[in-house]
Amino acid sequence: MTTNTAYAVHQIARPSGFPTARDFAYAEIPMPRPAPGTALVENLLLSVDPYHRGLMDGGEGGFELGAPLEGRSVGRVIASRDPGLTEGDLVFHREGWRTHALVALGSGGTRKLRGHEGVPLEAYLSILGGTGLTAYAALTRTAALREGEDLFVSAAAGGVGTATGRIARLLGARRVIGSAGSAAKVRHLTGMLGFDAAFDYHDGPVGEQLAKAAPDGIDVYVDNVGGEHLEGAIDVLREYGRIAWVGGLSLYNGDRSPAAPRNLFEVVHKSLRLEGVLVRNHTNLQDELEDFLVPHLRSGRIGTDTTVVQGFDHTVDAFLGMFRGDNLGKMLVRIDD
Ligand SMILES: NC(=O)c1ccc[n+]([C@@H]2O[C@H](COP(=O)([O-])OP(=O)(O)OC[C@H]3O[C@@H](n4cnc5c(N)ncnc54)[C@H](OP(=O)(O)O)[C@@H]3O)[C@@H](O)[C@H]2O)c1
Repeated sequence: MTTNTAYAVHQIARPSGFPTARDFAYAEIPMPRPAPGTALVENLLLSVDPYHRGLMDGGEGGFELGAPLEGRSVGRVIASRDPGLTEGDLVFHREGWRTHALVALGSGGTRKLRGHEGVPLEAYLSILGGTGLTAYAALTRTAALREGEDLFVSAAAGGVGTATGRIARLLGARRVIGSAGSAAKVRHLTGMLGFDAAFDYHDGPVGEQLAKAAPDGIDVYVDNVGGEHLEGAIDVLREYGRIAWVGGLSLYNGDRSPAAPRNLFEVVHKSLRLEGVLVRNHTNLQDELEDFLVPHLRSGRIGTDTTVVQGFDHTVDAFLGMFRGDNLGKMLVRIDD
């Protein structure tokens, strides 16, 4: 790469169902030059996320064709005309899917990283990033998990899922149960991550498998998937149980059963609470999340839980692989290989 050239991923077609590599192109773009009030950042790590899929359909707020996509990223300031930023500063921002970006402190969520000693950079896009914050908000605010309660989380081996398992344990959850898409992931959950029970959702009806894994019921369900998973969880939730509905992975590529479960009226019979979680409404919890988790990251009690794909040229592969379930923990791209 020369200093005059930057690179970006452009979306060039609207996917129908599951996206493919043909929907994207790698483009050479002129190196952006910082105007007053902005800084040039060399991106170091990119996040590829399920929510990008919805934006790829276009429409209001969606991605334009032939323009760089947006996404969470961590980078280093290499030239600054923003009085709040100095060369060498590490920043979190949303101008991802490209090697270089112009940012302005406080605009579009751009913030300087607090830079905790002993904490790897990957943490700021995983357990201390959007997925960790989602899990933390879902557990501490939406579901208000209490010590000694039992929890089920779907897509448990992914970014939000692993963070949910880790944080729930630190908050004093009793039984932690997860579902994931392969036997290897199930072993990872019960082995490395200390889940009490886990199952592969391909191995049979989710409701039946969950009922076996949670014979005495659960108090809280963190839903990353929707559809059959949500229906199964409603069946095993105890009276006054809570559902923090975070995402609908079974629906994003238009390939599965509907979001609405057939047993929704059980919400009334059991006095359940079902509430959506949107991370952008909880950014005020960022410092609280870091203060809570950093000591545990430093002590090694918890890890960052990431799958890091090497090289900017593999950004699209990482995105597609994330939907195929290639990731354990949060899927990230390290730009420089
Ligand atoms: N509400 C918010 O503000 C917010 C913020 C962040 C994330 N989210 C949501 O949280 C969920 C997890 O996001 P993430 O970034 O942590 O992604 P992730 O779980 O790290 O990655 C996606 C995972 O989805 C699983 N998957 C793919 N298709 C599936 C299907 N049809 N049914 C069940 N699982 C499927 C795959 O794992 P398997 O191998 O296990 O299938 C894959 O690894 C998503 O629904 C996302 O939209 C919401």
